Amino acid sequence: MNIAGKRVTLRAMEKADCEMSREMFNDPEIENLVVGWALPVSSYAQERWFEAHYGDSLNLRFVIETPEDGAVGIITLTDIDWKNRRAVHGIKLAKKEHRSKGTGTDALMTIMRYAFDELGLNRLDSSWFEDNEPSKRMHTKCGWHVEGVRRQYVFKGGKFRDLTVAGILASEYYDLIRKNHYWDDTADSKKVPDNSGG
Ligand SMILES: CC(C)(COP(=O)(O)OP(=O)(O)OC[C@H]1O[C@@H](n2cnc3c(N)ncnc32)[C@H](O)[C@@H]1OP(=O)(O)O)[C@@H](O)C(=O)NCCC(=O)NCCS
Repeated sequence: MNIAGKRVTLRAMEKADCEMSREMFNDPEIENLVVGWALPVSSYAQERWFEAHYGDSLNLRFVIETPEDGAVGIITLTDIDWKNRRAVHGIKLAKKEHRSKGTGTDALMTIMRYAFDELGLNRLDSSWFEDNEPSKRMHTKCGWHVEGVRRQYVFKGGKFRDLTVAGILASEYYDLIRKNHYWDDTADSKKVPDNSGG
């Protein structure tokens, strides 16, 4: 099923989305904001990657769509660990003009609901560079807690950069939606499960 947010829809990645993904990998502005090797990626390499990862149930990647702009980015749950019930979350919106309009927040709330309500995970992990204000603000607004700083963890742009590590527990997500009533006005608003207190 597609995963409905308040505004966004998270859907499966199609082969046709490889180009958006490739453009994001090749965009110096985005690559400077995320952890990674920052290699130029060809269409061939991107399609090979897509085929190699097709059907990988431990690393889920969804396309973020909005009604007005269609496919605008990608959101992920990777390194899913079923024993410890946790996963790593990542998100990228391809174009600057689609950012700072609440899309990231809705996509993050939606992937959290999916992770906790559908997959039964207990925690999500993420990380960001200290100067990535939109990422920091979005995660904090969505109930994430900073858990530490990995000093000089990533070498990028000729220097070692600190990486802020953060996480959210299922119980913290349920506390958040009880307080901010995020899903209350949606058609499929769900009662918060009674056993969600951690
Ligand atoms: C991070 C990202 C996914 C956030 O998505 P988004 O749609 O821009 O996020 P939102 O609009 O929902 O929320 C961003 C918040 O940061 C705020 N913000 C944006 N620029 C800011 C700045 N320079 N300083 C402080 N706050 C800032 C916005 O005002 C908004 O807060 P508000 O809702 O309280 O007004 C998106 O910016 C992105 O894809 N960036 C490039 C890739 C990236 O950095 N990925 C994350 C790696 S950890």
